Amino acid sequence: MVLFFGPPGSGKGTQAKKLSLEKGWPQLSTGDMLRAAIQESSSIGLRAKSFMDRGELVPDQVVIELIAERICHSDCAYGFILDGFPRNRSQAVALNDLLALGHKQIDFAIYFKIEQEQLILRLSGRRICLECRAMYHIQSAPPKLVGICDFCGKKLVQRVDDQPEVIQNRLVVYYQETEPLVEFYRTQNKLEVLNAGQTPEAVALDLMRVLK
Ligand code: AP5
Repeated sequence: MVLFFGPPGSGKGTQAKKLSLEKGWPQLSTGDMLRAAIQESSSIGLRAKSFMDRGELVPDQVVIELIAERICHSDCAYGFILDGFPRNRSQAVALNDLLALGHKQIDFAIYFKIEQEQLILRLSGRRICLECRAMYHIQSAPPKLVGICDFCGKKLVQRVDDQPEVIQNRLVVYYQETEPLVEFYRTQNKLEVLNAGQTPEAVALDLMRVLK
């Protein structure tokens, strides 16, 4: 079991998707789960939307319940990738407790380390497909046709929380709430630091070295 944490735009989702395809471990992204809940207008989605639109963390109870339910699915039996969970100390403690119930534990907590200037460029240029969840960047990973998903032909959109003022708030929240997990996992001897400021290919190679 591995978990990815790091600032918004550090490339967690990009690498989680790739690793999931290579290893067959499901990618459990709380961000994707919450966006799907919003699209479905479920009660969780209605509760989460205002927090996400402002770049705040959704209440712990909501995301802990989502993960507790998801890791019981049969596809998680042989491993999974947590992408964006936990995001603060209480979520990290809850995760350890949940895994301990099944006599399991996290193998690696992988910290995506990157300078803040790179994040703004990555986030402001990101475009996503709400239909098939494919992700693009207008400069570094553009679609073949501007604004159209290569895979399903649907129109690409910019995430509401990728607007400049929301990006700033997400960064503030990240450094206050999530960055302290570096010490949390260092103390537990689970921490691996990845240089996330490289090309996606170089980051993927470093990740494979860590997981070997
Ligand atoms: P979430 O969707 O998890 O967003 P995030 O953690 O802020 O991370 P991002 O998805 O923005 O970035 P990423 O690191 O995955 O980078 P990506 O690979 O996409 O969460 C959204 C919201 O949901 C939160 O703000 C919160 O409200 C809520 N939430 C989620 N989990 C929660 C939790 N546990 N508790 C409470 N609330 C929670 O890449 C970004 C861009 O960069 C892309 O365009 C990509 O193509 C490009 N790129 C990627 N890698 C590289 C590279 N190496 N070089 C150049 N470009 C790259």
